[in-house]
Amino acid sequence: MFTFAKVYLHGFSYFALTMCGIVGYLGGQQAYPILIKGLHRLEYRGYDSAGVSVINAQGQLNVYKSPGKVSVLEEKCSSQDISGTIGIAHTRWATHGEPNTVNAHPHLSESGDISLVHNGIIENYKTLRSELERRGMHFCGDTDTEVLVQLIENVKQKYDVPLADAVRMALNYVVGAYAIAVIEKSNPRSMVCARKGSPLVIGVGQQTGEFYVGSDATPIIEYTNRVVYLEDEEVAEMDADGSLRITSLKNVEKTPEMTTLEMSLDELEKGGYPHFMLKEIWEQPNALSVCMKGRVHSGLKDVFLSGVIDHRERFINARRIIICACGTSWHSALLGKYFMEEAVQIPVEVEYASEFRYRNPVIFPDDIVIAVSQSGETADTLAAIELAKEHGAFVYGICNVIGSSIARATNSGTYLHVGPEIGVASTKAFTGQVLTLCMLGLAIAKEKKSLSKEMYEMLVDEIQCIPEKMRWTLEHNKDIEQIARTFTYARNFIFLGRGYNYPVALEGALKLKEISYIHAEGYPAAEMKHGPIALVDEEMPVVFIATKRGNYEKIVSNIQEIKSRKGRIMSVVTEGDVTVRELSDYCFVIPDTRDCFVPMLAIIPLQLFSYYVAVAKGRNVDQPRNLAKSVTVE
Ligand code: G6P
Repeated sequence: MFTFAKVYLHGFSYFALTMCGIVGYLGGQQAYPILIKGLHRLEYRGYDSAGVSVINAQGQLNVYKSPGKVSVLEEKCSSQDISGTIGIAHTRWATHGEPNTVNAHPHLSESGDISLVHNGIIENYKTLRSELERRGMHFCGDTDTEVLVQLIENVKQKYDVPLADAVRMALNYVVGAYAIAVIEKSNPRSMVCARKGSPLVIGVGQQTGEFYVGSDATPIIEYTNRVVYLEDEEVAEMDADGSLRITSLKNVEKTPEMTTLEMSLDELEKGGYPHFMLKEIWEQPNALSVCMKGRVHSGLKDVFLSGVIDHRERFINARRIIICACGTSWHSALLGKYFMEEAVQIPVEVEYASEFRYRNPVIFPDDIVIAVSQSGETADTLAAIELAKEHGAFVYGICNVIGSSIARATNSGTYLHVGPEIGVASTKAFTGQVLTLCMLGLAIAKEKKSLSKEMYEMLVDEIQCIPEKMRWTLEHNKDIEQIARTFTYARNFIFLGRGYNYPVALEGALKLKEISYIHAEGYPAAEMKHGPIALVDEEMPVVFIATKRGNYEKIVSNIQEIKSRKGRIMSVVTEGDVTVRELSDYCFVIPDTRDCFVPMLAIIPLQLFSYYVAVAKGRNVDQPRNLAKSVTVE
């Protein structure tokens, strides 16, 4: 039918996605309030423009879009006709084309009959566009998405088929990743959705013929917990008569698989805190208790991870472990390496997923590759998994988001179960990842018998005390807010730690950078003499993670070196510490624990410090500039 050739993605389907958000509604209620509320719930993903399409009772398709926040869109819509019981909406994070009104979604077909929202990237959009232009179609923007809606219209007109058929036929010519929701002016009783490589969830409402659509479950959970997760290359047709038909791109019918969501609305709201980030910091003791539930057994002094038990032989015979991750998850991966090399006694490598996937790494079939990701959607981590699988390695996922792409792409794994993390800067997912990697290390050590019984039981006993010690840490550092206010002047920070506290220094520096926009560097404390010490003067704040165990004397010498150069010293210390306290201008205190578990406590005052510095500087804590919660573009 088309003259241009189909191009196939090589290797894997999770090629390049975007962090945009999709909401859709079809049913008996007014769509607009549901769509706008849904867009607000998706704001955490990061975006730079927003838009909405609604078909009113007269059959008019009204589209409103604007750059900036959802509130700007609302302002724009306040004087417009926003009535109608079917609609789609979108938050866009620009990849192709600047974040202006024209490029914002929803996009309209040339006739104005079809409207579409899209997450993902159409790789061959230029070829498709030239072909459509050759056929006389006109384009008003620069996006790959506009090409998709025009392609659907072109196919629909040419073959005179219903919308769902046109969507299926058009998608057969598309190379790339997509989650789409499409509506049509001439048929306001149905909506069509499809996905490949970018998640899409359909909520089935309480009333017959009521459907909700979301790029994740957050815009849906308020209305229904009955959902269907679309699989790659599936098309869903929803009708106001209540029918939900799911087919493949080749129109082979599939049975919709209904899942019950366990997330509650309370978990998505701020619960009285001024920001999600602060709420999530304070949630850590409970979140980590839940994470351990059914896995760490106090009576039996044992750890059970079904993901390991079910694949016991793979773990016993593993030659090596490679952990792939990005951002904060990379920092927890580094802590996982430290712990696993100690407990399991096999080599563990930690890789930035974005480097690993492009550098022809050596991967053996008896390697275990662990992917650590809060969202389970990070494009580079997904690509690293596919590479590992191509080499025959066993792939284990550590994710927070249930049903996420990484969770589905791995051979086995463990969910964090720390609840939804909405603040862009990761907090409870970080400590949840560290805890999960420690449990994983213990579970493998048990299978390999690499720890003595006494040591294993002692670690199992101690890990269970972490939530209570986190609570203590949160309660005993009430002066952080005031201390943070005295540092808003600073333009640079250095964070230093040794051993298990070195990744804490990296994560502490990242937190500060992300939300306060103050430049910060994390360094191994002994390395500071090889460079960073040149930066130290009376203006330079230096944060030491100087807890009692592990290289304490050595770090005390490092603190003295900074003190003699007049740096301003802040330290995280163990309760009862005297020496470091005397050397420091300010101290944050944590209870004593095994050094492998210290990071889960030591990071808490640093999370709070970053939070309060950012608040004092008037930053947008939950949605820092230029950052997105889930980086689904490579
Ligand atoms: C983004 C987020 C970070 C996160 C990183 C990796 O940069 O802002 O908080 O650590 O992605 O995300 P993942 O979902 O794979 O853990």
